[in-house]
Amino acid sequence: MQRIFSGIQPTGVPHLGNYLGAVRNWVALQKNHDCLYCVVDLHAITAAHDHRTLAAQTRDLAASLIACGIDPEKHILFNQSAVHAHVRLGWIFTCVARMGWLNRMTQFKDKAGKDRENVSTGLFTYPNLMAADILAYHATRVPVGDDQKQHIELANDIRAKFNHDFETDFFPEIEPLILGPAARVMSLRDGAKKMSKSDASDQSRINLTDDAETIALKIKRAKTDAEPLPSEPAGLEARPEARNLVGIYAALQDTDHTGVLREHGGKGFGAFKDSLAALVVEKLAPIASETRRLLGDPGHVDAILRDGAARAAAIADPIVTEAERLVGFLRP
Ligand code: AMP
Ligand code: TRP
Repeated sequence: MQRIFSGIQPTGVPHLGNYLGAVRNWVALQKNHDCLYCVVDLHAITAAHDHRTLAAQTRDLAASLIACGIDPEKHILFNQSAVHAHVRLGWIFTCVARMGWLNRMTQFKDKAGKDRENVSTGLFTYPNLMAADILAYHATRVPVGDDQKQHIELANDIRAKFNHDFETDFFPEIEPLILGPAARVMSLRDGAKKMSKSDASDQSRINLTDDAETIALKIKRAKTDAEPLPSEPAGLEARPEARNLVGIYAALQDTDHTGVLREHGGKGFGAFKDSLAALVVEKLAPIASETRRLLGDPGHVDAILRDGAARAAAIADPIVTEAERLVGFLRP
């Protein structure tokens, strides 16, 4: 059976983009794969973080993932810093990857912005650690949102160079799984920007913890244009905000743009937004309440993560030990 690995950062509350672009697919893949899902706290410290809240945010996110349907018994849910294999292999990959490869990463350029001289060196080498996350388990399929595609390509470049330099075929090829009509959910305020935990405006995203009233208000205020909805997907071109709302609706209804427009084409945004808000509330409200219930017993969530880390380490430790042998380290 092919092994699945994916990760999500514990920086702020997960949002509808994380859910539709990633987590919902993670849940579905559990049916016929062995899956590892990781709260990537090592990645979270590549940007300024609050050391007083990181642990709680890690636990909150784990609870949210379980509430979304991740099954920590049949599969493995853990936090990255608890399994040392990630850092061991991450260092090796930092020495395999080339400056030129990392210089091309658009996420680094976006996140560093004009402050390039002042960002953490970890932000630059971040994709090396991501490659290690996946390959420490010999995982071959990685469900992510569209924004992570470039990082997966880099991971494949790293594993090819490792195999070449150390005369082996030890690391397998990785395939990104970018699924569904909402693989890139855009900001509700700007159809050119992706929905993000780090956007300064909370109005730009729907959080998995938002209550019904907040969700309805955010959708009502979402940016749109003056035209009614088209009846065919071609009519969404050059209308990024309309396209985004239709994509969200399609993903939540398990249909595509065509299906949504067949039902709602010709309607104005007032009516469509009412339907969309009702649908989002229907799908997200049970997740929010289950997350709250789980967090009523933080010790239980921690026990789940501890167990997950032990099972993850049992897979990764021998793989990374073999990678270290291939590199040539002495084990006296
Ligand atoms: P992050 O929040 O950056 O840790 O992302 C966790 C997962 O959610 C990754 O698979 C991302 O590709 C996905 N993701 C993040 N933002 C979006 C978005 N706006 N639309 C779709 N997927 C997203
Ligand atoms: N870089 C991913 C993001 O920001 C998170 C991540 C870290 C990840 N390690 C991973 C995703 C390994 C998939 C596989 O969304």
